[in-house]
Amino acid sequence: TTEERITLLMDQMTLEEKIGQMNQYNGFWEVTGPAPKAGSSKLKYDHLSKGWVGSLLNVRGVKQVREVQKIAVEKTRLGIPLIIGFDVIHGYKTLSPIPLAEAASWDMDAIKKSAAIAASEASAAGINWTFAPNVDVTHDARWGRVMEGAGEDPFLGSKVAIARVKGFQGDDLSAVNTIAACAKHFAGYGFVESGKEYNIVDMSNSKLYNMVLPPFKAANDAGARTFMNAFNTLNGTPATGNKFLLRDILKIKWNFKGFVVSDWASIIEMIAHGYAKDGSEAAERAAIAGSDMDMESYLYVQELAKLVNDKKVDASVINDAVRRILRVKFELGLFDDPYKYCDEKREKEVSGSKSNNDGVLDMAKKSIVLLKNQNNLLPLKKSGQKIALIGALANDKTSPLGSWRIAADDNTAVSVLEGMQQYKTNSLIYAKGTDVTIGKTTFTKELEFNTTDKSGFEEAINTAKNADVVIMVLGEHGFQSGEGRSRTSLDLPGNQQELLEEVYKVNKNIVLVLNNGRPLAIQWANDHIPTIVEAWQLGTQSGNAIAQVLYGDYNPSGKLPISFPRNVGQVPIYYNNFSTGRPTNVDNNVFWSHYSDVDKTPLYPFGHGLSYTKFDYKDLKLNKNSFQVGEPVKVSVSIKNSGNYDGKEVVQLYIRDVSGTLVRPVKELKGFELVDLKKGEQKIINFILTKEELGYFDNEGNYLVEPGIFKIFVGTNSDQVLETEFELK
Ligand code: IFM
Repeated sequence: TTEERITLLMDQMTLEEKIGQMNQYNGFWEVTGPAPKAGSSKLKYDHLSKGWVGSLLNVRGVKQVREVQKIAVEKTRLGIPLIIGFDVIHGYKTLSPIPLAEAASWDMDAIKKSAAIAASEASAAGINWTFAPNVDVTHDARWGRVMEGAGEDPFLGSKVAIARVKGFQGDDLSAVNTIAACAKHFAGYGFVESGKEYNIVDMSNSKLYNMVLPPFKAANDAGARTFMNAFNTLNGTPATGNKFLLRDILKIKWNFKGFVVSDWASIIEMIAHGYAKDGSEAAERAAIAGSDMDMESYLYVQELAKLVNDKKVDASVINDAVRRILRVKFELGLFDDPYKYCDEKREKEVSGSKSNNDGVLDMAKKSIVLLKNQNNLLPLKKSGQKIALIGALANDKTSPLGSWRIAADDNTAVSVLEGMQQYKTNSLIYAKGTDVTIGKTTFTKELEFNTTDKSGFEEAINTAKNADVVIMVLGEHGFQSGEGRSRTSLDLPGNQQELLEEVYKVNKNIVLVLNNGRPLAIQWANDHIPTIVEAWQLGTQSGNAIAQVLYGDYNPSGKLPISFPRNVGQVPIYYNNFSTGRPTNVDNNVFWSHYSDVDKTPLYPFGHGLSYTKFDYKDLKLNKNSFQVGEPVKVSVSIKNSGNYDGKEVVQLYIRDVSGTLVRPVKELKGFELVDLKKGEQKIINFILTKEELGYFDNEGNYLVEPGIFKIFVGTNSDQVLETEFELK
């Protein structure tokens, strides 16, 4: 068996070789964290040849992977193959939409397929382990990494986590086109204080159990082979040195059998946090806590052997970590053929293939959310219209690729301009208007926003004046969100808002197409612009997807996986909030829970998204009015497509546990179904609620299903719902 093979191998390993398996270095060119200080290329090669490296990240391409694998397999005493990690976050060369956008599809089959395409391309380029999915729930649009997760809800986040893990890993991890997944960042990173990158996290255990952990648990249950810990402290303890998270919950309670990799240098960062006095103490605390592999801290390789010899770290800790790492390598089939991902022919065939492009185009269309469509400005007529296309992002072939797309080259996305040009029967004139950023945009450097240069305004205004419809593509550049890109403003960056207002003065028929990696605060646009389309960063096929939606060749069905605030001061704003003791204005005085200067509701609620057609909900019913704990609650609702197009709708079910030992959110998503309805068609949609949906975790981690009244809401988003209730006895 695999376990016997691991035992046989471990019996032959020296302590140094074992610790070597726990050591991961960055490869030799890309850097996805601060520039490494300790490791020269010479040192890395040297350690590699001694068998002191278990994994490399950021090595890619068959040629390069073969080269390093050859050293591990042919030069070292035991020939243990490397596991090759890479941030395959939303595709490899052929990019899917950013994960936040994919989540907006609420289409788990499509998301799974998209991850499978990514796995297939990455594995063809020598990679066998992705640092994805990011399953961090977040309520903070300021946080740059909001683009990388599935938004604000743990239920939707869990479904997406499962789809992505299954997509990457397939049914057979040893197959040549699947790769190991990594659920990250364990845990709490999405709740960094004030949305500031790498900040601390402080939260109740109940919030941790109910809001943060469910998608991780789901990823583990779906078989995610690895977890990555997080940069943040959690209630005072760095996640990297957090035994409660890594051992008590993950490895013991959840019975996780894979391994945990640290985040980039997060072990050594425990010194800066003030949790370890030096490298030795950092290594000791991380290893004991359950961080099995050290990414780029160089501390395990430097400190662990001495710590074991000095009896500060028990040998069993090392043995457990190494067994976990070797297990995943065996499961991938690396011991049977270490070069299985190194097939030049396959690399050529798979990378950027037609079918991969078709797949990401499908995903991109499904990710688009129609936020507003007054006067039915959309879909566009196919002929006889004069269209003005405005905005630097409309003619950008790099920004739509989004953040985290290390293997995809600049300028490889289809721009909106190119997508629109496919529709030749209308006249189309393009004007840039204004630049979004200044200078070159790269993954590692801070971007500068263009706030001053208005030299393109006049051309844009003149172009708009003569058009029947103006399409304005505005928003963030792909590298204005992502790691290290937290912002304190959620406005349209640079002087795009000014451009929008100037163009509006000459032509009110504007379709605003947003490109962004986070919710933006677009209150003015919502108040003035008739039609708004949320098109995120949609990946390689972005422009084609947007054009097909604008022209009605695809009827949008996406729904927001995160609330859009009216202004940044409302953040964090999320639908699954708590009531407070004064939720509503009863006396018409100031003493209730609200803001004096802005409505307390979001601009667009969680789950919001329109279609070119119309859906009517009615007859929300339960099979009974009271249930015993454990009895299934059956919910049904009728939905009819009463508009003029065939379409898809995400029917959403929320609950509220009205009173309990701990207060519960005013709404919690507990079911959804993506329903296809032809024009005029009507369907009954059924949901079943069990103990799993009706309970919650208290501060000690106990799962409680408490008797009492439960409200049930079903509707088109978290705000517009039908309502009923039942009693749980
Ligand atoms: O996978 C990432 C992680 O999410 C953030 N720090 C760097 C890692 C490796 O690139």
